[in-house]
Amino acid sequence: MSRPRYILAIESSCDDTSAAVLKDRAILSNLVANQKVHEQYGGVVPELASRAHQKNIIPVVHQAIEKAGIELSQLDAIAFTRGPGLMGSLLVGTSFVKGLALATGKPLIDVNHMQAHVLAHFIDNNEYDHPPEFPFLCLTVSGGHTQIIVVRDYLDMEIIGQTLDDAAGEAFDKTAKLLGLPYPGGPQIDKLARDGNPKAYSFAKAKIKGYDYSFSGLKTSVLYFLRDQIKKDPAFIEHHVNDLCASVQHTIVDTLFDKVLKATEDLNIKTVAIAGGVSANGLLRSRLKELGEIHNWKTYIPKFEFCTDNAAMIGIVGHFKLLNEDYCDLSALPDARLAYSHV
Ligand code: KG4
Ligand code: ZN
Repeated sequence: MSRPRYILAIESSCDDTSAAVLKDRAILSNLVANQKVHEQYGGVVPELASRAHQKNIIPVVHQAIEKAGIELSQLDAIAFTRGPGLMGSLLVGTSFVKGLALATGKPLIDVNHMQAHVLAHFIDNNEYDHPPEFPFLCLTVSGGHTQIIVVRDYLDMEIIGQTLDDAAGEAFDKTAKLLGLPYPGGPQIDKLARDGNPKAYSFAKAKIKGYDYSFSGLKTSVLYFLRDQIKKDPAFIEHHVNDLCASVQHTIVDTLFDKVLKATEDLNIKTVAIAGGVSANGLLRSRLKELGEIHNWKTYIPKFEFCTDNAAMIGIVGHFKLLNEDYCDLSALPDARLAYSHV
């Protein structure tokens, strides 16, 4: 058997600073420093995010190495998020890893954040006996992206559908804001929806061709509905918040799976996974299981901590790229709109 490979991974694409150490596909440490500073503004403030990354990155990396119980000299490579994400946040991570690579002489591996959400399924610490078999469909839903992806191999993925405007996470966050809930709204809606009736109100579902999505109309539909109701009852939101959350959540989850169902039928793929921050959502997780039973799919739901942004998922992409000796050089630049490339 070949010797184990050690990777230090760093994720800094949005508002969480995270560092992880992987021994092959297993996690030795995976630390995430959340930035609370944005809560008071109701959304991520890019400049504040970069500054918080600058403050957090050294202690977080230090702790990740210490917790893993390894020396920097044992590392085989350093993996980092090159994009997509906020430019300032990406710059902090990219500059930091370049310094570390120069100081240690370790090679660098650049990682696409969206590809990392998908490959989080291949981290050993998930809760299934075997990771998904290729080809499978992955519904990747985060704060910035909504994608249906055909995954043919670890590094061979094709996006067949995506949102034309707001991402699913944004739809959660923006409607939550209309309901006066704190940022990020997704987890808040998830929590309150548990005590609500998903059929209480019906909101418009966009009719888009193929496997693409549009979520911007939902926010407008909720906005107009609330405006009319508040005229009759100024405390309408307060009185019906659980039903409102359950109805919004139901609309988003239903819309997402309509297209996934169509894709499984058209492509005759029977293995379906979910990934990204929104895959932490209770209804999305239970609905995938239900649909799997109805349609005889094999379904894969990542462990909760691998749904939202974390460095272990960056490390697992690093692992597969390391096996291909696919390194990048010190001139690599962050790319806020980095797209997938086939390998
Ligand atoms: O993947 P992620 O951590 O960061 C990005 O790459 O964007 O996703 C963050 C998004 C936010 O929009 C957040 O509201 C949403 O994931 N989210 C949820 C839940 N947990 C996080 N949405 C619905 N239900 C949840 N439980
Ligand atoms: Zn993400």
